Amino acid sequence: MKKIPEYAKNVREASDFIRSKINFKPKIAIVLGSGLDIISQNIEGPVHIDYSEIPHFEKSTAPGHKGELIVGKLGNDNVILMNGRHHYYEGYTMKKITFSIRVMQELGVEVLMLTNACGGLNPGFKRGDIMLLTDIINFMGDNPLIGPNFDEWGPRFPDMSSPFDNGLSDLAKKAAQDLNIDLKEGVYIAVTGPSFETPAELKMFQKIGADAVGMSTVPEVIVARHAGIKVLAISCITDMALPDELEPLTSEMVNETSKKNGDKIARIFERVIEKL
Ligand code: HPA
Repeated sequence: MKKIPEYAKNVREASDFIRSKINFKPKIAIVLGSGLDIISQNIEGPVHIDYSEIPHFEKSTAPGHKGELIVGKLGNDNVILMNGRHHYYEGYTMKKITFSIRVMQELGVEVLMLTNACGGLNPGFKRGDIMLLTDIINFMGDNPLIGPNFDEWGPRFPDMSSPFDNGLSDLAKKAAQDLNIDLKEGVYIAVTGPSFETPAELKMFQKIGADAVGMSTVPEVIVARHAGIKVLAISCITDMALPDELEPLTSEMVNETSKKNGDKIARIFERVIEKL
């Protein structure tokens, strides 16, 4: 019999634990970005599971990331919501920061909805806008799939010709229209952080086709696609990262803007879930 890697065993232990705490099979998972925990306030009948209770789950150390799973109803469906994600800049490996996505896969999640806070590179955007991700650039210099491939989870060389699900993206666009919410669209480039970008870096990112820059999401998309999970992602543009008019930026400013605008993403997600 084929040996199960230690990592996969750990994923199973974590998912078995979560399964023991919930009474449904989650189809939809949501990951909340910095300051975007307003979305969690819309969950009905929430059950909270602290990351510290879940075997092999790391704690969230980033500001604006709580570190708990919230399970309950959003729209008309049960969801499992990660209130706080893990970032590469916290010192975790790519495998660690995507451990939760593998747990979602093991739990049978079919749809992953991601959110994040990021800087706007497209001059047509403004602070507080929200943006549907149409594509990604992995500029982190690492990939969560490096290392032996566990074939039960997905193929050695997963296709990335369409990182985001067109059906889900269309639902999000329609929801935004119905709700009268201005939903921008664009390419998200992921960097490791934790330092924010210099003007020269931002100029390069604009030139290579990015509309927004942030420090997360891309590893999660890669693992979810490897797992065959459909992905929808919406960013909050928390600051404008324009090289020629760059102003000093702090994480407090990022969290403040996402707190103010997170509700727009929550309302779109709720609508999308209703249509699934
Ligand atoms: N750059 C990188 N990450 C970010 C930014 C930014 O300007 N804003 C929020 N997260």
